[in-house]
Amino acid sequence: MRALVTGVAGFIGSHLAEGLLKLGWEVRAIDSFTDYYSRKIKENNLKNLKENKNFSFQEGNLLELDLKKTLEGIDYLFHLAAQPGVRKSWGKNFGIYIRDNIAVTQRLLEEVKEFPLKKFILASSSSVYGESPLPMREDNVLRPISPYGITKLASEGLGYLYYKAYKMPVITLRYFTVYGPRQRPDMAFHRFIKALLNDKEITIYGDGNQTRDFTYISDAVEATIKAAWSEVTGEIINIGGGAQVTVNETLKILEEITNKKIKIRYIEKQKGDVLHTSANISKAKKLLNYQPKVKLREGLEKEVAWLATAKAQK
Ligand SMILES: NC(=O)c1ccc[n+]([C@@H]2O[C@H](COP(=O)([O-])OP(=O)(O)OC[C@H]3O[C@@H](n4cnc5c(N)ncnc54)[C@H](O)[C@@H]3O)[C@@H](O)[C@H]2O)c1
Repeated sequence: MRALVTGVAGFIGSHLAEGLLKLGWEVRAIDSFTDYYSRKIKENNLKNLKENKNFSFQEGNLLELDLKKTLEGIDYLFHLAAQPGVRKSWGKNFGIYIRDNIAVTQRLLEEVKEFPLKKFILASSSSVYGESPLPMREDNVLRPISPYGITKLASEGLGYLYYKAYKMPVITLRYFTVYGPRQRPDMAFHRFIKALLNDKEITIYGDGNQTRDFTYISDAVEATIKAAWSEVTGEIINIGGGAQVTVNETLKILEEITNKKIKIRYIEKQKGDVLHTSANISKAKKLLNYQPKVKLREGLEKEVAWLATAKAQK
């Protein structure tokens, strides 16, 4: 099997590419090393991949690259490249989100619309729900409360357009807060653990009673590969971790794991942050046979162990 993974130097993309290589697939990959976070971290994410003879990498912006050779003969396209992050998506930055989350998705879909692709897997986000009733179901009314969420919703819409107009085998996955080794440095667990390990204060936006549905990276990768294999197309599917936990509860678990006392500073909730997320994953269970396996404490232990290594801290 031959796959293209976009956004491969990122958190989820690098783990997904490793998962596909383990299955013996040929993996072509693209990333432009956007400056959302440091290039050094992204290059570290690629290190193991580059040693595999079934892996090839093209650096560049998906809007500008000549994709002809890279796309030739691929069976699966995993589109993970995006400008992530809710908080930075306001104001002038919105242009970056339009480019990397909407225009890039449209270009990719356009490029492969006539290809005999087995599946186009599109990464979306729980951010499309906004303050939706819980647990969030795929057929809920979607009212994102951040510009980022708006762009992810638009990219979902594009996937549906090409599924309808060109019968493209598109499947869209709404990931709920993914965590684990190599998690993005702007994400909460990464910031919390780094501060804890360095005896620094942790900043919490809001009172810490906000909840999240956390998905461990290996579960997210397994769901993504199952989505590729499945017969299902034209569907949008939640990928969550199966439990809803408050941020304060996660801090308690982190204190126990690291055997350290956390210093917390609570500040005002940020614009665009959803108060609660919780995924109804019955569709993923039914259509993909997905069952999250890694419990929060076990997943956090792994992220702490990773961040405790000097290299990951840089
Ligand atoms: N991490 C999460 O919890 C989470 C939750 C919901 C959805 N998602 C979605 O999953 C996907 C991966 O997220 P992540 O956390 O791994 O993010 P990430 O920032 O670690 O990875 C995204 C990668 O895409 C690359 N990229 C962005 N624009 C590009 C372009 N125009 N051309 C080429 N490369 C480009 C970036 O350089 C980066 O390496 C994204 O689509 C994101 O919206 C992630």
